[in-house]
Amino acid sequence: MNMIIFDTQQELDSYAAGLIVNKVIEKPNAVLGLATGSTPLGIYDKIVEQYEKKKVSFRSVTTFNLDEYVGLPPENDQSYAYYMKKHLFSHIDIPQDQIHLPNGMADNIEAECVRYDFMLEASPVDIQLLGLGHNGHIGFNEPAVNLSGGTHPVKLKAETREANARFFASLAEVPHEAITMGVGSILKADTIVLVVRGADKAEIVKEALTGPITTSVPASLLQTHARVIVLLDREAGRMMK
Ligand code: GLP
Repeated sequence: MNMIIFDTQQELDSYAAGLIVNKVIEKPNAVLGLATGSTPLGIYDKIVEQYEKKKVSFRSVTTFNLDEYVGLPPENDQSYAYYMKKHLFSHIDIPQDQIHLPNGMADNIEAECVRYDFMLEASPVDIQLLGLGHNGHIGFNEPAVNLSGGTHPVKLKAETREANARFFASLAEVPHEAITMGVGSILKADTIVLVVRGADKAEIVKEALTGPITTSVPASLLQTHARVIVLLDREAGRMMK
């Protein structure tokens, strides 16, 4: 596991964006695994900046997002489809049909999960961007006795709904369910870039990266992957020195 602790947000964002942009320059038809939440926002800004400077084109890129809420249509400004369009896809030249997110509005959620895994099998992820939840979740893989390998529906933990409530008008509006890629699917990516910011995540960073590998800290399974790049700000990396 490679770990870099950055002094400034700018440096972290530029470095993470550089990893993705360089992958696309080297492999124009790269498959990108993308994440939402507050953590990647600055990274998407830097990617758009590189695109606008004509350093890179996403014409042949395919993307898969980690997760989506159940019951929020893409027009809802809290859906991850909306987030991705707003912060990345509407600013770059990626064709719409090369963008994939789980469909949280599907009539049959189980069938939707199978469909998503089928597409992932056909287009393995080259580089997967990941954030980290306070309880160690990745995507929406919550701490549990057993973790699912493939894409699956999840009931969100109270702490996850509370953490994400800051994006909604009220806690009551935060969906109770989501669809997420499984830890098994995430670990199939060739390279994983885990990005964590903030003092409130310092302890979970230490636990996930140096503690026992356990399903009660889903991110600890990243320790089993051969190519994980961990990018931390000074606060999140406080206990890693
Ligand atoms: C959310 C998302 C995760 C994200 C995490 C951290 O629940 N499903 O993919 O990594 O929580 O979010 P943030 O970056 O806002 O702290």
